[in-house]
Amino acid sequence: MASLTIRKLDDAVKTYLRLRSARNRRSVEEEVRVILRELIEGREEPLTPFAVPPEASPAPATLRPGAVPEASVTLIIGGGIAAFKSLDLIRRLKERRIEVRCVLTKAATQFVTPLSVSALSHERVYTDLFDPQSEFDAGHIRLARDCDLIVVAPATADLMAKMAGGHADDLASAILLATNRKVLLAPAMNPLMWNNAATRRNVAQLQRDGVLLIGPNSGEMAEAGEAGIGRMSEAIEIANAAEKLLRPPLPRPLAGKRVLITAGPTHEPIDPVRYIANRSSGKQGFAIAAAAQAAGAEVILVSGPVDLDDPGGVKVTRVESARQMLEQVQAALPADIAIFAAAVADWRVANEGEQKLKKTSAGMPPLQLVENPDILATISKLTEKRPPLVIGFAAETEHLIDNAKTKLARKGCDWIVANDVSPASGVMGGDRNTVHLISKNAENNGEITVDSWPVMTKEQVAIELVAHIAKSVTAKSADKPLEPAS
Ligand SMILES: Cc1cc2nc3c(=O)[nH]c(=O)nc-3n(C[C@H](O)[C@H](O)[C@H](O)COP(=O)(O)O)c2cc1C
Repeated sequence: MASLTIRKLDDAVKTYLRLRSARNRRSVEEEVRVILRELIEGREEPLTPFAVPPEASPAPATLRPGAVPEASVTLIIGGGIAAFKSLDLIRRLKERRIEVRCVLTKAATQFVTPLSVSALSHERVYTDLFDPQSEFDAGHIRLARDCDLIVVAPATADLMAKMAGGHADDLASAILLATNRKVLLAPAMNPLMWNNAATRRNVAQLQRDGVLLIGPNSGEMAEAGEAGIGRMSEAIEIANAAEKLLRPPLPRPLAGKRVLITAGPTHEPIDPVRYIANRSSGKQGFAIAAAAQAAGAEVILVSGPVDLDDPGGVKVTRVESARQMLEQVQAALPADIAIFAAAVADWRVANEGEQKLKKTSAGMPPLQLVENPDILATISKLTEKRPPLVIGFAAETEHLIDNAKTKLARKGCDWIVANDVSPASGVMGGDRNTVHLISKNAENNGEITVDSWPVMTKEQVAIELVAHIAKSVTAKSADKPLEPAS
């Protein structure tokens, strides 16, 4: 079987994997496993490097921002008094969106019934190694490997002895011997059993074998008048430890950075009930806010009127008009990175009616238009408080790249994300986007480079853009820290 060294992959693929695994709260290795599994099951589109031209290949695998990743545990319940706590453990794991399949030892069935375990886990419960129903396709191997983690709670002295000795004469011990997953034991036993030389030897051997332990805690025993080390950890402690193993802390490439984002259309009033608007849905800007937040940034999102929920962990300010948007953007400075994804109306009505305009015999009221403030240019040209990286969006219906290059120079920003919003593209209001990242290379006499990305979902565009930002920010790591926003 071939092995894969993540370190040796292309930079773009590594960045993609890092962000995707961060988003899904998995290790990079685990994310690769998921991608491969999903590819084989046909649930995902193939992963491709980002720099390939749009027509050359399909988009990278689908991402689900904000989604809690799937995770599953095989829970082995041993035959001890603490088995009743495992019922609570099932509940605690499930409320963390962790699937649980339970295996009971023969002794465990004396303490809790398979029926109650099954009712709580919403799954069939396994008790017998020689069960023809589950062993027709080596069920014990599936239980050992079709999970992300094995938890043994309570781990009895007997089960630990079997594990340390490599026994496999019942379903639980056979699974523990056949697994290639991490194993977390929650021992529970009388203090004399725990302190017995045989148990000490077995625990030491298991730790050498890489088995993980939580507890036991010290406290009163079920046996009257007995106390000491041997109480099983509480269900919540075990569930937290399991979750930590399943969803290790995220890489946060934008930690400590303040990112300001605008999104959506603006509404420019004609009178109290009518306005000039555009078809922007705000989806792209909201997706960028979610991706930047997942990458560890402090995110301020200034949004025009859209029908979208606030992304979790993002400070959202809702505005109506271009002037309000500029005001809120200015109030949110300073920022390390500003991304202007909003489709701001270029013009507003000069002679806005204070009352609803009425039809009259004089004919249609003339609508006088005046230019709105240019938010991107205003912020790009600031001398004080200019964010070190200013990114604009260019929505064009023709001559996309040329127009975007001109816009980059005219507005004075650092990068432009150009996208074709002609009706045929379906971008306005749709879920997919085809973009070109146009950037000015300060180190190379301001040379302009164009990076064309394949068609992607707006979430994928967001993640890719955040990956580029993270790379650029890391390269300029000498940046001085910001003053807090007033
Ligand atoms: C009432 C009662 C309580 C028990 N509690 C424990 C316990 O907390 N920890 C332990 O290691 N064994 C305990 N045992 C002993 C185990 O049930 C016994 O060693 C059994 O063989 C374990 O089987 P298993 O490891 O396959 O689950 C208890 C036995 C009885 C009768």
